[in-house]
Amino acid sequence: YWGQGRARLDFTPIKPVDMTVDDLTVPKGFDWSPIIRWGDPLFYDSPEFDPKNQSPESQSKQFGFNSDYLDIIPDPNGLTGVLVNNHEYTNENTMFPTGYEKTNLTNMVRTAIQAHGMSVVEITRAKVGEPWTYVRGGARNRRITLTTPFVVDGPAAGSDLLKTQDDPTGRRVLGTQNNCSGGVTPWGTVLSGEENVHQYFITSGIAEEKRYGFPTTMPSRRWPEVEKRFDARIPGYKNEPNRFGWVVEIDPQNPNSAPLKHTAMGRFKHEGANVRVGEDGTVVAYSGDDEKFEYIYKFVSAKKYKEGDKKHNMTLLSEGDLYVAKLKGNSPKKQITGDGTLPRDGEFDGSGEWLPLVKGGKSMIKGMSVERVLVYTRLAADKAGATKMDRPEDVEPSPHTGKVYAALTNNSDRGKEGKAGVDEANPRTGNRDGYILELTERHNLPQATRFDWNLLLVCGDPTKDSGTYFGGFPREKVSPISCPDNVAFDRSGNLWISTDGAPSKIGYNDGLFKVTLDGSERGRVQQFLAVPQDAETCGPVVHDTEGMVYISVQHPGEDGSFEQPRSYFPDYALPTRLEPGEFSMPRPSVIQVFRKNRSNKPQFPGNVS
Ligand code: FEO
Ligand code: CA
Ligand code: CA
Ligand code: CA
Repeated sequence: YWGQGRARLDFTPIKPVDMTVDDLTVPKGFDWSPIIRWGDPLFYDSPEFDPKNQSPESQSKQFGFNSDYLDIIPDPNGLTGVLVNNHEYTNENTMFPTGYEKTNLTNMVRTAIQAHGMSVVEITRAKVGEPWTYVRGGARNRRITLTTPFVVDGPAAGSDLLKTQDDPTGRRVLGTQNNCSGGVTPWGTVLSGEENVHQYFITSGIAEEKRYGFPTTMPSRRWPEVEKRFDARIPGYKNEPNRFGWVVEIDPQNPNSAPLKHTAMGRFKHEGANVRVGEDGTVVAYSGDDEKFEYIYKFVSAKKYKEGDKKHNMTLLSEGDLYVAKLKGNSPKKQITGDGTLPRDGEFDGSGEWLPLVKGGKSMIKGMSVERVLVYTRLAADKAGATKMDRPEDVEPSPHTGKVYAALTNNSDRGKEGKAGVDEANPRTGNRDGYILELTERHNLPQATRFDWNLLLVCGDPTKDSGTYFGGFPREKVSPISCPDNVAFDRSGNLWISTDGAPSKIGYNDGLFKVTLDGSERGRVQQFLAVPQDAETCGPVVHDTEGMVYISVQHPGEDGSFEQPRSYFPDYALPTRLEPGEFSMPRPSVIQVFRKNRSNKPQFPGNVS
C-alpha cells in the first residue's frame, strides 16, 4: 500500500551513541513513540500488565517478550492494518523477581512459554502517513505461543523422525520457538524462522543432536523439569527437538488459519526466510543458519505463483528443491591476509554455486533419505561441501534489483586454531564486526544454480580500523557500524541494516543504518537511530514514502535485574513521568519513528478498542 508517492525520508545521520545511554535516539526533526510493549493487553478480556503477578493465562492474552521480526501491513484504505511481531525468547532475570524460580518454577516456565511465539495486532490511525495506535480486541488480533497447534507439511511431514508419544502422526506440533527474523510473502503471509531451539531441551546427545548444539545437561531455563516434552531423553519425546528449527508460515489476516511448518525448506537455526518470485512464477526463498561456520540456503518451489490465489500460494513452500551455497574467491589465497586488506583486484569477490541437497523430490546426498536431509539439513550440507560462513543472519533479495543481501554478523572463532581459516568471502581473522554480502544470481534468475558475489561492507569503526570497507565510498564519511543482523529495503532502493552486538565491539549502542546501493554514493552508511542500553535493534520496516520507520527494541537493559533495572525503556516516554518508587522495568517494544510536525501525536500508552 505504502508504495505510492515520493520518498520523504531525508535525515541528518545521528552521531554514534555511547553504550551507557538509556534512550532511543532519532535524527533531528523526528520523534518516536511505542506502538505496543511487552505485556500490553491484546483482547477485551486480557488482564492489564502486572509484572508482580504474572501467569501463563495473562501472558497468553498479552503482547509477548523480546520483539524481533516486525512487519506493519496496512490495509488498502491505509488507515487500518496489522502489526506482526516475533517474540524470540525471554530474559527471566529482568522479567521475574530474583530467586522467583525457587518457589515458582512452574509458573515461571509456563509464563515464559506463553511469552514466546508471535503476535498479530490490529493497528489504526486517523490519517494516512500519521503514527499508529494498536487496537485492543481487534478482530485479527492473535497470540501464537508454544502451545498453539501447527500443521507440519512438506516431504518430512509424518516422518518417523517427527513422531512423539503426544503426536503419533508426526504432523501436528504444539507451538513455535525462538522466532527470530522473518519475511512477508507476495501473497500476504508471514514467514518466521525458528532459530536457537537447542537452548530449551535436554537430550541424550546423539551425533545429530550435537551437530545442532542440543545440550545433555539441564538448560538454565529448566523447562524440561516442568514440561516433559522438552526432555528428549524420555523415549516418547526423543523426536521433540526435531519438531523445531523450521520456517513457519502464518496468515495474519485470518486468526483462525492453521500456522504451518515447512519441512521442504530444511531444518537448521533459521534466522528467517525471504521470498523472491521469478518472471515465470517460480518462488525462491533464502535463509541463513545463524551460527558460527554455518551456511546460506535457497529453496526453489516446484509449483508457480498465482497472483491473487492465496490458498494456492500457501502451498508453494511445501514442495521444491533445497540448495546450499558454496562461494569461491577470485583473488589468490595469499592476498587474503586476515586483517581486511583488500586483495589486489580491489574487492573481496568471486563466484559461487548452489549445491543441491534435495532435487526433484530426491535426495542428492549419499546415504541420506529426503526425510533425513530435511530434518538433519546441517549434516547434509556438511556432506555437500558448502562454504562455512560467519553467522548468516538475514538473507533478503532486494525487490528492486533481485540482488540478495546477507548479513554476516560476526565470528570470533574465524581463523582460530582448529577452526576454518579466512577465505575471500570470510576474509577477517576473528571477524569482530561482520560483513554485508551482495549476491547476484546468474542472469538475475532466482532459480539459477550459479551466482556472483562481493562483500559490500566490511564493517567496523572506520576511524579506528583500516580493515573496513564501504563499497568504495570514502571511509571517513560513513557512520561506524558493527554486527549487522536484520536487513530491509525502502521504496527508493536503499538497504537498511539493524545491528545486534555493537556495544561490546565498537562501544556504541546498536542502531539502524541506511546504506545507499546505487550511484556515486554506493556504500555510504548513515545512522538513523540508536536503541537504549543493552538492547538490540530488530525488524526494521521503512515506509519512506510516508516518512515512517518502525523497529523492534529487543532486550533493553538485559544485564540488569527485576530489582535493579538498567533501563526504563520505553516507559520514560509516558506523558506523565512515573512517580519516584513507582514500579517500572524495561519492556521490549515495537516503536514508530515519525516527523515531529505530524498533527496527531499518538496517544501513549495507547490502545483504542
Ligand atoms: Fe536471533 Fe540470529 O539472531
Ligand atoms: Ca577479488
Ligand atoms: Ca537476528
Ligand atoms: Ca542476532
